[in-house]
Amino acid sequence: MTKYGSFPGARPRRLRTTPAMRRMVAEHRLHPADLILPAFVREGIAEPVPISAMPGVVQHTRDTLRKAAVEAVEAGVAGIMLFGVPEDAKKDGAGTAGTDSDGILQVAIRDVRDEVGDDLIIMSDLCLDEFTDHGHCGVLDAEGRVDNDATLERYAEMAQVQADAGVHVVAPSGMMDGQVGVIRDALDQTSHEDVSILAYTVKYSSAFYGPFREAVGSSLQGDRKTYQQDPANLRESMRELALDLAEGADMVMVKPALPYLDVLAKVAETADVPVAAYQISGEYAMIEAAAEKGWIDRDKAILEALTGIKRAGADMILTYWATEVARGL
Ligand code: PBG
Repeated sequence: MTKYGSFPGARPRRLRTTPAMRRMVAEHRLHPADLILPAFVREGIAEPVPISAMPGVVQHTRDTLRKAAVEAVEAGVAGIMLFGVPEDAKKDGAGTAGTDSDGILQVAIRDVRDEVGDDLIIMSDLCLDEFTDHGHCGVLDAEGRVDNDATLERYAEMAQVQADAGVHVVAPSGMMDGQVGVIRDALDQTSHEDVSILAYTVKYSSAFYGPFREAVGSSLQGDRKTYQQDPANLRESMRELALDLAEGADMVMVKPALPYLDVLAKVAETADVPVAAYQISGEYAMIEAAAEKGWIDRDKAILEALTGIKRAGADMILTYWATEVARGL
């Protein structure tokens, strides 16, 4: 007995005594093969262009993208998610540059495939927003609304040109109804049955995408609330999951990550395919900005956020810190 009562019968602190003990009993660990690097490549630039809201991230030239891909391979990163940024003059209502076989995204896929072959899983954003002059993820109808089914036809064409360029995985991120099924059909009908689909299954309409809009030079006016999900909803995500699995998604994604860990945990519990989470631009910017001000320890905060995402159930994590973190693990 202590002076004030009985001794604790259980002492969880015993397993926290030393770094070696804590390492041994850790329930989750990050591995370089968990990580996927999102990367931007911009047409017509001679030098990489820094993204001011994402310190340390750039819009790559074709050349520096190749180097980034090689560095990712050397660090053991699993994959790279490519986003193309066309010249402004090439944007139009239909997002034509997104289906041009010489469009920047297709060119980048070929470059990276040529550089690293099958050593890195090459993934591409399958969405129109980088290529449309109005900045929406689809084409618009006469009233200016995003036309779901007309957009599906554009996505089918995008899937084919991206696959022709040599991508391993297409990642539809536009939240159109039926997109996974249409893309699967388009791939199968063009002899690309081995190209996988990583579906942005659960994608919320988030304020944390802000810095990304700078990264891709988005011309979006308004918001994406008629196609991206309301942050208030969880049950709706389970419906999106069931639909994407039925339509043939090989892997599913939850996005953003940190404000949606409950959603991620539930998807990971339910899905019978690998689950990815996207630590998005705003999550990156928050940590970098607070660290720059000296308010948090940058490296520890990055690892803590990523470990939390893993603990919640992510098999793969898209993070702009992928190469740096993989090197340090
Ligand atoms: C759509 C797309 C977006 C992101 C990835 N794919 C932007 C959006 O939906 O508004 C955001 C990624 C990030 O914020 O890091 N092509």
